[in-house]
Amino acid sequence: MKILHTAISAQKISLGLRKKNKIIGFVPTMGYLHEGHLSLIKTARKKADTVFVSIFVNPLQFGPQEDLAKYPRDFKRDEKFCREAGVNFIFYPNVKEMYPENYSTYVNVENITEKLEGEIRPDHFRGVATVVLKLLNIVQPHFAVFGQKDAQQACVIKKMVEDLNVNTKIIVCPTVREKGGLAMSSRNTYLSLEQRKDAAYLFKALEYAKRKIQTENYNRDIDFLKSQMTKLIKSRSTVTKIDYISFNDNRTLAEIDSLKNIENKEILVSLAVRFSNLRLIDNIIIKR
Ligand code: PAJ
Repeated sequence: MKILHTAISAQKISLGLRKKNKIIGFVPTMGYLHEGHLSLIKTARKKADTVFVSIFVNPLQFGPQEDLAKYPRDFKRDEKFCREAGVNFIFYPNVKEMYPENYSTYVNVENITEKLEGEIRPDHFRGVATVVLKLLNIVQPHFAVFGQKDAQQACVIKKMVEDLNVNTKIIVCPTVREKGGLAMSSRNTYLSLEQRKDAAYLFKALEYAKRKIQTENYNRDIDFLKSQMTKLIKSRSTVTKIDYISFNDNRTLAEIDSLKNIENKEILVSLAVRFSNLRLIDNIIIKR
């Protein structure tokens, strides 16, 4: 396994591999790797000859009040993790390499970035789309793997790749969860024991919606489901705020407010909940 710090070195290697007809798979991350990242790496490992992982805490996608400085980092641990997972190259640039002085080009995917996470984190997806396009241009992979955990992010990247004719296939892998249902996340490391227990209720609430719609064939307004989910989550004492609980079309992200006449659709149920200054997101897809 090799560690690459510059865009030019990664591009050279990638072009060399492409000349030899090697399939390149890519997993972009912000590091502090866990089982969720591992499942993406494993998927890439299965389908590719060469696997690239990038580790870069992208300042552009953090708002001024967010946890950029506190975002967990441990490169030595990540390096070992990648080596054991069979990664061939880690692209590990510093901020100057990605955004030199006078950097001035940004990617703005319209509409689908304005709701859900985008409403609460303005400019977040501009930062994500910009860094992901740069990473795809640097690594030049045949395919890149993302997690369903960040459902809106996956939608935004698919749209960007389609709109800008990027020659990379986007693969989305299911969310990996802890035993109690909590979606794995680098930020979980900051949860207290009690918060961690309460955080499992996010998934319980999502499963409640799934059960109602898929098993019990609940067929009416979404508001009732939302209020039941809200009650369940608010029953946990360490929950400080629910930013949103939302039902959307999984492709267009158009909001769904009633289940009448909704057939053959993938419904994305997503939520964001605060535990003091920690904010967790999760989602589930319900097929109807
Ligand atoms: P990061 O949060 O490190 O996540 C990297 C990838 O891992 C993303 O595609 C994310 O959806 C996926 N992932 C995280 N937790 C997961 C879980 N429990 N199960 C499955 N997949 C999971 O997302 C980012 O970094 C950044 O926004 C990035 C795309 C790297 C751009 O900076």
